[in-house]
Amino acid sequence: MRRKVSMTINGTQYEHEVEPRLLLVYHIRENAGLTGTHIGCDTSNCGACTVEIDGHSVKSCTVFAVQAEGAQITTIEGLAKGNELHPIQQAFWDEHGLQCGYCTPGMIMAAKQLLERNPNPSEREIRLGIEGNLCRCTGYHNIVKAIQTASKVMATGAGKEAKAPATVS
Ligand code: FES
Ligand code: FES
Repeated sequence: MRRKVSMTINGTQYEHEVEPRLLLVYHIRENAGLTGTHIGCDTSNCGACTVEIDGHSVKSCTVFAVQAEGAQITTIEGLAKGNELHPIQQAFWDEHGLQCGYCTPGMIMAAKQLLERNPNPSEREIRLGIEGNLCRCTGYHNIVKAIQTASKVMATGAGKEAKAPATVS
């Protein structure tokens, strides 16, 4: 049995027929072709699959695609405006907030949510805000620094994700 599912991802509408058991992370990667959202565990531990659903940060391996029917989803691909990186992406670049980069898309999506809730977090609040996202490489120090830098840049008003209307099925 397959069910029709329709959702908006990064401003583009996607319509597909999917099996009800399909996890949202696989839908995003395999049907929408947006492979910036990573799969690190499939068991809701690592946070590599973090996206925004209707403005809330969600591990997309914990949700079935059909549960996102009608939702507005933002993935890492939705943050840059053309060639201009989102301030959080730029800060990860500037502060060397990554090594292998596998955790980075989920880490940036979690950081985005954290800074939207708390634009000027303390170091402790940053560490608590990303505690659901695992990094096996960096020791977190430069990730925290990157989020602190992004917080300062975003305080100037830069960085809202771009939206491009289109339909893909
Ligand atoms: S793949 Fe979703 S939390 Fe690890
Ligand atoms: S940079 Fe390698 S897992 Fe975080």
